[in-house]
Amino acid sequence: MASPITIPTEGLLERFLANDFEQIFCEKCMNTFLTNVYDHGDYVILEKFSLGLEYYRDAIKHKHIQSTPAFTLLGVLDGFKNEVLNPDIIQLRTHEEPDYRLIYIMEKLTHLSEADEQFFTNRVHGLNWLDEAKRHLTLEWIEEKYGLVLAQDIRQLCRYFRENQDYIEWDLHGDNLMRRPQTQELVILDPYTLNQTDDYDYRLEDDYQHPS
Ligand SMILES: Nc1ncnc2c1ncn2[C@@H]1O[C@H](COP(=O)(O)OP(=O)(O)O)[C@@H](O)[C@H]1O
Ligand SMILES: [Mg+2]
Repeated sequence: MASPITIPTEGLLERFLANDFEQIFCEKCMNTFLTNVYDHGDYVILEKFSLGLEYYRDAIKHKHIQSTPAFTLLGVLDGFKNEVLNPDIIQLRTHEEPDYRLIYIMEKLTHLSEADEQFFTNRVHGLNWLDEAKRHLTLEWIEEKYGLVLAQDIRQLCRYFRENQDYIEWDLHGDNLMRRPQTQELVILDPYTLNQTDDYDYRLEDDYQHPS
C-alpha cells in the first residue's frame, strides 16, 4: 500500500509552466544532472529527465512497497519546449532514453543522518552483488536496525530489480532514502537508475572477425 497522504495537484502543472516555483539548491540536489527540485511549501516539485521513478512506481504497484513517499505524476512535458505531452508516451522496458520531462509532486523530506547515510551507501548499495547468504544477512541487519517493513520492501525492490535488470540498475545508496520530518519515518526515495549499458552489437562492424 502506498502512502496514505493525498496531495493537492490542481493547477500545479500550469504553475510549473509559468515558472511559479523556486528551484531548491542544496548540496545533494546539485549533485544530480537528471533531476531539478523546486519548492512548494510542504511539497517539492521534481522535474526528471530519467525514467527511474517510473520504474519505482511500477515496482510499488506490483510488489506492494510500503516505505514510500507520497508522490504523483503531474504530467509529461517536451524536453525543451513547454509543450504538454500525452503521458502514454511513457514506455517502460524499451531501452529508449526519455527526451521528455516528467513532472512530479512529492512530500518534502529531509536527508538521513551521516550514520544512516553511510549504512545504506556502504552496506545496501552493493546488495545486488552479494551472494544469497550475504544478501540474507544484510536484510536481517536492515530489519534489526530499521524494522521488518523496510527490510521486506528492500527485498521486494531487489527482486523487481533482478526481474528488470536489462533496463535498470540498483541505486539504493544513502542519498536515495530520506525521512518524513514530522515522524522521522524512513522512506525510499529513488531505488533505481536506468541501465546505461549500450547494447551496441560489435558483430555489425565491417571488420568484425567471427570467432571460429
Ligand atoms: N521529496 C523531496 N524532498 C526534499 N528533497 C528532495 C526530495 N526529492 C528529491 N530531493 C532532493 O533532490 C535530490 C535528487 O533526487 P532524486 O530523486 O534522488 O534524483 P536523482 O534521480 O537525480 O538521483 C535528492 O538527493 C534530494 O536532495
Ligand atoms: Mg537519487
